[in-house]
Amino acid sequence: MKARHWEDDPAVRSDQGIGDTFGDVIARRLSRRDLLRAGLVAGFGVALTGIGDSPAHADGQVRPSPTGLDFAPLTPSKGPDVLVPAGYRSQIVVRWGDPLGPGASDAFDPAALTPRDQAVRFGYNCDFVGFMPLPRGSRTSDHGLLVVNHEYVNPELMFPVESPGDLTREQVDACMEAMGLSVVEVRRAAGRWSVVVDGARNRRVTATTSVIITGPARGDERMKTSDHPDGTSCTGTMHNCSAGTTPWGTVLSAEENFQDMFGNASALMDARDRRSAQRYGLGENESVYRFERHLDRLDCGKEPHEPYHFGWVVEVDPYDRDWTPRKRTALGRFRHEAATTHVTRGGKVVLYSGDDARFEYVYKFVCARPYDPRNRAVNRDLLDDGILYVARFNEDGSGDWLPLVHGRGPLTEDNGFRSQADVAIDARIAAHLVGATKMDRPEDIEVNPANRKVYVVCTNNVDRGADGKAKPDRPNPRVRNAHGHIIEIAEAGDDHAATSFRWELFMVCGEPDDPATYFAGFDRSQVSPISCPDNICFDRRGNLWIATDGQEKALDRRDGFYAVPVAGPERGRLRQFMESVEGSEVCGPEFTPDGKTVFLAIQHPGEGSTFSNPTTRWPDGSGPPRPSVIAIQAENGGVIGGRGT
Ligand code: FEO
Ligand code: CA
Ligand code: CA
Repeated sequence: MKARHWEDDPAVRSDQGIGDTFGDVIARRLSRRDLLRAGLVAGFGVALTGIGDSPAHADGQVRPSPTGLDFAPLTPSKGPDVLVPAGYRSQIVVRWGDPLGPGASDAFDPAALTPRDQAVRFGYNCDFVGFMPLPRGSRTSDHGLLVVNHEYVNPELMFPVESPGDLTREQVDACMEAMGLSVVEVRRAAGRWSVVVDGARNRRVTATTSVIITGPARGDERMKTSDHPDGTSCTGTMHNCSAGTTPWGTVLSAEENFQDMFGNASALMDARDRRSAQRYGLGENESVYRFERHLDRLDCGKEPHEPYHFGWVVEVDPYDRDWTPRKRTALGRFRHEAATTHVTRGGKVVLYSGDDARFEYVYKFVCARPYDPRNRAVNRDLLDDGILYVARFNEDGSGDWLPLVHGRGPLTEDNGFRSQADVAIDARIAAHLVGATKMDRPEDIEVNPANRKVYVVCTNNVDRGADGKAKPDRPNPRVRNAHGHIIEIAEAGDDHAATSFRWELFMVCGEPDDPATYFAGFDRSQVSPISCPDNICFDRRGNLWIATDGQEKALDRRDGFYAVPVAGPERGRLRQFMESVEGSEVCGPEFTPDGKTVFLAIQHPGEGSTFSNPTTRWPDGSGPPRPSVIAIQAENGGVIGGRGT
């Protein structure tokens, strides 16, 4: 779908009431220096070096770019395998069904997959990938733990069935074991990564693992179920999308589209339960997956409080398999895309997380107590005590973090909030009441270690500006936003615990010949097309790397992986680094500390087709497609994206 230039849309102009064009907005966000660089100021156009070239200097010498990015952007080929630039190679590290211990046989037979078997094998639909060095606390780059989220299942690709409703009880149980997380020990030797199959820390956390509930919702009336009558624990984690790591070496796994698991919400009797179910999008009748046909706890009529056990951030310690995972309810309940921590200059831990749904919000949590880098034990419960905020992006480029605290402002009993537990459980409702800004599906949010700015990825929102829906605004500037955008935030005083910030648009995605696109002011004729940005990370120089989800629909291109500098004369110069396989999205970008390997998760290859007739049988060439983590390295062993740096 081709994006429209929103300044041409009369609905937008009348809604804003100010007659601003997109160009006006951009101009205010850009310094004159940026405009000069981009050649946008008449008479001051600057010559831009060709893509892939290094800049020639006045002394005639060619020097490496200060960004370190010198690969030639890909020309996509829609081939059978992952495509990387000349000078790079990719390899499979671990696939759905690969054994994670001696309890699983080497041979993987999806047609005979049992729940018990899946529970000791790598799960499905890998998303977040974290590389946790071994030993813990080191900067080792050739030995570590891959912690991988398994977001959801594609039963129609995993089993020879027409739809999820045709699954047997045993297949449904296997699907529940295929979600959650994997901890996989990996090692690099002679330039190749391999799984340490008998690694002592290898394990699965699944939708049936015991989990402790902590924070304000612990023990609340609404957390009590038949299996967990005191509301202090729950069964499993699922729809684990992206995640983050903590400074003390744990992983914060984000539960996203849990609402798709729950059906029969129309049977809910309690008014509070009904309000929450509607706001969070539980299935009124059958769920998307229809697993409630076999599992009573997914049927709201039978277990009305079970949905309150999901939509949280779950802390898992990959280094300690005996430490029971914790759901940190102080961080709020919504469709968490990710959970990114940052230590402020004052030593406090803050956490950013987006609610990935149309017109939902961007959140930040500031821990009450400082982080102690010398004492891991005292950091254990930091995430249970602090203030949850939600973002308001003002039209003038300022922004405010609005506290979600029981008793403050509208968050009172009159509006259905009896306690902080209610605020946490119904964070979406609380955020709406305090006046948060409705965003275009906030996905990943990450802090750039080089400039400490916060990058918020809005993947798309085709309902923006539709009848009865919120109109475009400055932070979400496009009608029927099919391609998404990225916002750059500078916290006030460079303090990530601050309650105000400045923001600007960094990128408005799409085909570069679409005048509605914007690449931080860089000459758009010199950049790669991109749509639906999702997960991001930064290399050692602070360049932004972007993985996409949804380009096949939005741009008729495969999803891929891109790099773009955020500083200097090449700010905004986006280049495609990798093209994925048919039907897949690209997730989990993660560099090793030495910057010489990037791990990517290839999620749902072949999605849109079926087990019996898949559009791809990647990576094996036979059997069903298998979601897999890949590693990309330079053939010369150098840093990813750069020449010998
Ligand atoms: Fe699971 Fe928002 O992507
Ligand atoms: Ca995602
Ligand atoms: Ca996504």
